[in-house]
Order: sequence, then C-alpha cells, then structure tokens
Amino acid sequence: MPHPLEQLRDDALREIESATDEQALETTRVKYLGRSGSISSWGEQMKELAKEEKPVIGKLLNEVRNAVTAAIETRNAQFRLQKESGALAKIDISLPGTPSGYSGYSGYSGYSTTAGYSGYSRTTESRGSLHPLTQILQRSIEIFRRMGFALADGPDIEDEWHCFDALNTPPDHPARNEQDTFYLPDGRLLRTHTSTVQIRTMQSAPPPIRVIAPGAAYRRDEVDATHSAQFHQIEGLYVDENVSVADLKGSLEFFMRELFGADTAVQFRPHYFPFTEPSLEVYVKSKTLKGGERWIEVAGSGMVHPAVFEEVNKARGDNAYDPEKWTGYAFGLGMDRLAMILFDIPDIRLFAQNDLRFLRQFA
Ligand code: DAH
Repeated sequence: MPHPLEQLRDDALREIESATDEQALETTRVKYLGRSGSISSWGEQMKELAKEEKPVIGKLLNEVRNAVTAAIETRNAQFRLQKESGALAKIDISLPGTPSGYSGYSGYSGYSTTAGYSGYSRTTESRGSLHPLTQILQRSIEIFRRMGFALADGPDIEDEWHCFDALNTPPDHPARNEQDTFYLPDGRLLRTHTSTVQIRTMQSAPPPIRVIAPGAAYRRDEVDATHSAQFHQIEGLYVDENVSVADLKGSLEFFMRELFGADTAVQFRPHYFPFTEPSLEVYVKSKTLKGGERWIEVAGSGMVHPAVFEEVNKARGDNAYDPEKWTGYAFGLGMDRLAMILFDIPDIRLFAQNDLRFLRQFA
C-alpha cells in the first residue's frame, strides 16, 4: 500500500497534467499547496506524530511538496509557450521582407542624356558607391603618381598672402575684390584656388619639387549649371633644373590621354595668370566625349613666374628657389569640370545635392 502522502502526490500530478488552462491549474495548486491545502495540512499533523516517525514522514512530505511544485511550474511554462506560439502563428513568415534601401522610386526618368549613365535600375540590395568626384580624384592621383608626383595639402581657410601676394597678384587685382572672394571678419579668406599649396610646399621644402594638391576652392560666383560657390581643383607644381614648356605640355597631354582615352587631342592656348609666364589654358577634344568635336577648357597652367620664387625666398629667408637656377611649371585642373565631361553630367550642382537617383548612376 502506498503511504497516503504518496497517494496525495499521485492524485495531484494527475490533476495537474489534465488541467486545461491556467485557471484550472491555479485551482489545483490551491487545493494541494494552498495554506489549508491537503499537502500543507500534513505539515500541521507532523507535531502529533511519534518521535521516530517524524524524520521519515518529514522527508516524504518534502519530496511530495517539491514534486507537486515542480509539476505545476512545468505545466505553467507549457501554457505560456502555447500562448506565445499562438501569437506568432498570426505572422505570415512566407511574406517577402522589405528590401533595405528601398526608396519608393518606381524608376527614374529624369536626367537622361545621350551617352553613358542614363539607365538606372533599382536593385533589392543597396550598396554604397564612390561619389563621381572621388572617382575622378582617385583616377587622377593614380595617373600623376605614375609620373612621380607626390601629394601635398593646405588649408581651405587661407591668408591673403598665400592666396594672392605670394602668387604675384597685385592688391588691385579683381580676384581680390570682396565681390569675388569670401572674406572672414578677421581678414582671412576661403582660398579662391589651390595654387596656395604651391607656396606652402615651397616654403617647407627646397627644390626639386614634384607635387599635386587636390582640394576645394571657393568663389562668390552666381550659382548656375557650371558655377558653384565651392568647387574642386587639382593643383600641380614641378620645380627642377631645366624644366621647360615642353615638359608641361608632355605631362598634361599624357594625363588627359590616360583619363579621357588615347584619341584625346590636347591644345594649349596663350592666356594670362599673374603667377606664370608664359601662361597657357588647356583644352581637350575627344570623339568619345559628349560634344565630340568641341574644344573644352579643363585647366590653367604655365611656367612659374620668377617673382613667385622671389616671394618664397623672402619668406624662407634664403635663396633656395634661385630663379637663375631653377625653373618650374604649374597647373590647376578643374576637377568638377573633368568629372562633368567624363561622366556627361550637365549640372555642377548635382555633385552636392546628395540625390541618390543621381549618385547611384556611378556605382
Ligand atoms: N589658379 C588658377 C585658377 O584657379 C589655375 C591655374 C593657372 C593654376 C595656372 C596654376 C597655373 O598652377 O600655373 O584659375
């Protein structure tokens, strides 16, 4: 015969097992384990037991109480699980998810000019890509590196001396006008060209020098399709013994053909810049480019003016750039212009608008 406590335990376990919901389970719990429940009342009776019976029954009572408590907990967990999976069952996991980067455009039919990048198609996956200006910058740096040019750098906020005086630009030159240049209240300015880096490079190192300096430049231009208050240039400077116009022409011709293709024609037209003598504007023409037979201006260039060397010497306090010994060429490429030609982009403002429909075309 099982002990009545064991009988009680078996009854309780059976009832727990057959409880159909949390409510029924709670009723069962109270019936056996509640303060006046049948298992609990056995604890009351313990004091009336014979001395030798007490430890045996006490142990059994503990075992029964633990078994019933554990069974109730297990059954409760089952009910909780059932509830949760019932809620999950309402979610249709076979529905396709929302693709990341989905922008809601059903297809862009704006800006589509003849050549190149007019076909834009949305993919389910959205991968980042390099900005067209960054792409041009990287290609250009790679080409100049092969020609032995190192990278140089200078600040966007400049002083008048680096931007104008040192570059042989007189105080009454129109570029220095407040209408053309962004001046800060303290008299400094946003550099109007990257030619400032020529001066900074020569101040910090003696010749020979062979550097390019890519960066932003700023002018108070009326903003339109070809003018922006901020644009980008690649400055170049090569100073050595016996540098000639032939070196300048050869290097820039090589660069243009690497960038735009072997069939690219390059033309040099006389011009005027205060910091070069002679000065030349650089034009390119290529059948593969939009505009085909048209000459497009892409750079200013020239032989470094002796007055620039003299200004640098004064600032250095030596004669490192002796104009009798050293000659050099310099150039300033319009980077936005190069990108617009190469990628057939009709409006310079597109570079700064961060419109994904535009940017995705260069992925
Ligand atoms: N700094 C000129 C500009 O912004 C471009 C330029 C012309 C740069 C001749 C040069 C140069 O280095 O030699 O229009």
